[in-house]
Amino acid sequence: MLIRRAAEADAAAIRVVHDAAFAKPGAPGAETVEAKLVGELQADGDLVPALSLVAERDGRVAGHVCCSHARIGSTPGPVGLGPLGVLPELQSTGVGSALMHAVIAAADALDLPAVVLLGSPGYYARFGFVLAAELGITPSTPDWAARLQVRPLANFPADLTGTFHHAPAFDRF
Ligand SMILES: CC(C)(COP(=O)(O)OP(=O)(O)OC[C@H]1O[C@@H](n2cnc3c(N)ncnc32)[C@H](O)[C@@H]1OP(=O)(O)O)[C@@H](O)C(=O)NCCC(=O)NCCS
Repeated sequence: MLIRRAAEADAAAIRVVHDAAFAKPGAPGAETVEAKLVGELQADGDLVPALSLVAERDGRVAGHVCCSHARIGSTPGPVGLGPLGVLPELQSTGVGSALMHAVIAAADALDLPAVVLLGSPGYYARFGFVLAAELGITPSTPDWAARLQVRPLANFPADLTGTFHHAPAFDRF
């Protein structure tokens, strides 16, 4: 497996990955919110190019993860992670974990304070994510409290508390 930065030429393959990973049972092949979200984050200039990574298996894009600019309270710097998707036929073979380890390390190398996401704690705890509430970080929508998680990085300041805000594209879906 090869993990590398996504290039412009990967755009179609990245859409394929998310459309397959997030397909609804009744609507296989339909364009998914997650695939559209990647395009909108990019169009808005909120996607962090150094944190948009693909996993290649046998020369084929098997997975994609990206991060976008976000803020906690009025403090910019944290990034929001998502979407993360892996082709269904290659799930549970380590692709998602490889992307997660790589993107967290890259964010840390950029001296960012934290990576924040909405997702299943059962999956993300293994990468060092903790519930945001434990760090005094709250979601903008109270219903998300059980799924909003933060991975503090080396540059995480203890006083970074407040409400987490994703890039605006997340609110369009
Ligand atoms: C979630 C996802 C990205 C994980 O990628 P992956 O390549 O399948 O993951 P890995 O092979 O690295 O790890 C697989 C492990 O994660 C576990 N896992 C996957 N999703 C999980 C979840 N929601 N909760 C708990 N564990 C989960 C698997 O059971 C497996 O466990 P095991 O190693 O004990 O067998 C991938 O399954 C996927 O694309 N799913 C559909 C889209 C999605 O839900 N994306 C995440 C949105 S938050």
